[in-house]
Amino acid sequence: MNLIFLGPPGAGKGTQAQLLQQREGIPQVSTGDILRAAMAAKTPLGQEAALYVDRGELVPDDVMIGIINERLNQPDAQRGFVLDGFPRTLGQARALDRVLGATGRHIDLVLYFDVADDVIIRRLTGRRVCRSAAHIYHEELSPPRISGRCDIDGSELFQREDDREETVRRRLEVYHRETEPLVDFYRRRGLFEPVRNGDIESVYRQLVEIIKARAGSR
Ligand code: AP5
Repeated sequence: MNLIFLGPPGAGKGTQAQLLQQREGIPQVSTGDILRAAMAAKTPLGQEAALYVDRGELVPDDVMIGIINERLNQPDAQRGFVLDGFPRTLGQARALDRVLGATGRHIDLVLYFDVADDVIIRRLTGRRVCRSAAHIYHEELSPPRISGRCDIDGSELFQREDDREETVRRRLEVYHRETEPLVDFYRRRGLFEPVRNGDIESVYRQLVEIIKARAGSR
């Protein structure tokens, strides 16, 4: 299935997309991870993206649409994917329809993670990710077995530059203004399914139930 994970920064989209990839083999397509890899490699894309990402602003639509067009046309995305962090504007959502329509594909389901702003701030300021593959932890809510080390690949954990509180608040403002309108956009199309907040495993169980129910009704 072709899925979108929609929700504010820190809602748990990346955590759940990684679990679905590990347990069900559905590829995670995270535009944030693609941009951070380009920033770390200091490519021209990375240098442009850093101007926006570090301030908590959105990277311009034309850049993001080019990235997603290339990524969704790679072989591993032909049999389903989870979009984590895309689309984030109505322009991106319309462009996504065009990109998928060009190869006879469409979005099957949009899962919406609704989490209150005060919870988000606690989650993001305590988040740690690993250097090699961006596996996700939280200092208190989801700590690694060995402090400061990734359970999966042993690499060092660090705090993302844009997880400082001031930047998190800016990202939330941008989310409410630019991305929240997508809730109505997808609800009107009958693709929208809300996911109740809870601990990581209970959210995962809900997701799998919703996805299976939708797959069974196709
Ligand atoms: P991106 O990397 O996509 O960031 P985001 O959407 O802001 O989402 P996050 O990665 O911050 O949060 P998440 O929902 O994945 O939460 P997570 O699972 O990590 O984008 C970064 C930047 O890139 C943007 O600001 C923008 O500049 C740019 N960008 C990216 N895509 C773009 C686009 N399409 N257009 C334009 N610009 C774009 O969880 C958060 C924390 O909570 C973790 O510590 C985790 O352990 C914990 N946690 C997760 N679930 C739970 C739970 N159920 N209970 C308790 N703790 C939990």
